[in-house]
Amino acid sequence: MKDVAVFTTVESLKSRLNGAGNSTEFAFVPTMGALHDGHLDLVRKAFEIADQVVVSIFVNPTQFNSQADLENYPRTLENDIRLLKSVGDVIIFAPTVSEMYPEDFKEINLELNELENVMEGKFRPGHFYGVVNVVHRLFEIVSPEYALFGEKDFQQLAVIQRMVEELQLSVKIIPCPTVREKNGLAKSSRNQRLNEVQLEQALILVNTLNYAVENSKTHLPAELKKLAIDFFNKGELQLEYLEIVDAKTLQEITEWSADSRICVAAYCGDVRLIDNMEIN
Ligand code: PAJ
Repeated sequence: MKDVAVFTTVESLKSRLNGAGNSTEFAFVPTMGALHDGHLDLVRKAFEIADQVVVSIFVNPTQFNSQADLENYPRTLENDIRLLKSVGDVIIFAPTVSEMYPEDFKEINLELNELENVMEGKFRPGHFYGVVNVVHRLFEIVSPEYALFGEKDFQQLAVIQRMVEELQLSVKIIPCPTVREKNGLAKSSRNQRLNEVQLEQALILVNTLNYAVENSKTHLPAELKKLAIDFFNKGELQLEYLEIVDAKTLQEITEWSADSRICVAAYCGDVRLIDNMEIN
């Protein structure tokens, strides 16, 4: 087992980071905990690119649109620490809400324009406002050279990249591919809330994405979207959206672009799941 330090205050974390010396490069992996192999893959990659790795574990209330979702979000700090220990000497930051949002907290109101009006932005109003603010605050606290984000949350990755560009932050964003179960289901903290039957039913997400990728050569995006929705609706989940978009702008496409993505969100019982895949 490796040594793992857990810091709960900004001050104690900062003094640990400052104590590492000016030439130390930090890679940062922000998370909301309930860690799984998708998160751990980001942490492993972080160790490949920097001297020291910081992982934050903070269930950020401002990015949840439903109180029930926030309350039901799994919290497994002890197990998270154990998992991180198995990867390496991680510096863990697990702050309280008041530590993250002190009374003098200055929010930023970044214009996300077209990125915000589609998919997650459309169905979860205010979600990205919460994500931008928490990640910005975390970047300020940690000042990492690198920050790793999963393509599993494709729109979030685009939003963070936009924030870094707009605010000219010095951090380099490293996108990481989605880690899946052997059967293809994208790993997610929310999968913990699914029973055995639902775990099978949830496969319709990845199966639909694969179906769309396989049929992309013979159909235009709009046609393929219809076919993919029909395919999806043969399963048991309740579709929220299925979109075929340009990977940069996240806007729906009518012709195939060099970099196209299919993105889907659906409810399995009361658990909301998302997934996406590259189409080329
Ligand atoms: P969370 O859902 O815990 O995810 C933390 C990071 O792990 C994100 O970058 C996410 O894309 C990545 N991740 C999750 N599942 C993955 C998988 N199956 N494969 C690869 N990467 C995966 O995303 C958040 O937390 C929050 O919004 C956060 C950025 C921490 C801000 O609160």
